[in-house]
Amino acid sequence: MEAWEKIEQTQREIESYVIDDSDTLEAFRIKYLGSKNTIKPLFQEVRNVPAEERKTFGQKVNALKQGAEKRFESAKQEVQSEAKSIQQDIPDLTLPAYPNPTGAQHPIQLVMNRIINVFQRIGFTVAEEREIEDDWHNFTAMNTPENHPARDMQDTFYVKGDLNRVLRTHTSSVQARVMENSQPPIRIIAPGRVYRNETISARSHCQFHQIEGLYIDEGVSFADMKQTLLYYAREMYGEDVKIRLRPSYFPFTEPSAEMDVYWGLENEIDYRITKGTGWLEVLGCGMVDPAVLTNCGIDSEKYTGFAFGMGIERQAMFSHRIPDIRLLFENDVRFLNQFVDA
Ligand code: PHE
Repeated sequence: MEAWEKIEQTQREIESYVIDDSDTLEAFRIKYLGSKNTIKPLFQEVRNVPAEERKTFGQKVNALKQGAEKRFESAKQEVQSEAKSIQQDIPDLTLPAYPNPTGAQHPIQLVMNRIINVFQRIGFTVAEEREIEDDWHNFTAMNTPENHPARDMQDTFYVKGDLNRVLRTHTSSVQARVMENSQPPIRIIAPGRVYRNETISARSHCQFHQIEGLYIDEGVSFADMKQTLLYYAREMYGEDVKIRLRPSYFPFTEPSAEMDVYWGLENEIDYRITKGTGWLEVLGCGMVDPAVLTNCGIDSEKYTGFAFGMGIERQAMFSHRIPDIRLLFENDVRFLNQFVDA
């Protein structure tokens, strides 16, 4: 083969030589840069080239050698950095294992569990029921007459084409079902999801959670209710908590009240949360209306009882200073991660 051609060929070989690990890199080095490399004989060929071409020939062979060196250097770097990244992928087996992050409970669930716990300690058991209710258990049994505004389409989600089926608007429907199926003494709490046709805003949502409580026995009094709720407030908000009961109205209780806890009024946040009063409305309560007992098959001459109900989101927002109820439903892990160790 002619010497010039050899240069061309070697040039092509160098360019297309596959170098993908340290072995092929070493093979390349030996072949083109080692002591018996294939470029060396080309230098000797200079003698056989006509004198006037020698200079160009020499330059060509030199360029070939430099090309091989260059190719070697860049391939070497590639191979080394690849080796490094492979090395980084190999775990250090002597290190202690990473803790395996498992799921965490949602802040609503955490607060719900806390409330359940407080009432379970004084003998309340958890009762659960369906979320799609009939009119009777959600409204009628609860003394909410046919034309009561709570039944308005604007407040209640009805199942399409069936005015008798609603997404329960409160967990009082659970009370109705428990009373129907058992006799006093009854001492239950009913946690669960409820739905109201409300415009979603920072303060209210169309789905939220409630816990209701019901206690029916002979001789249950308003004082019993107050003491139970005081106990609850102390457990939730601390020993020094102050509570107050304000007269209120619910169709299913008589007399009815709303309970506030004293939150404080020291800074702007306190002002906003308590609407400038220092008091926070926490729950609704009252003595079960005798008509409700009768509706559910309980002798209202013999038994009395109290009931209370509260929104869990509100409690969660207060406890964790969450400024917007929507955060609780958006499943943004940046928000939820804050409760992992709660
Ligand atoms: N059911 C009422 C509500 O949804 C709360 C409540 C329950 C009030 C029991 C009194 C007694 O607002």
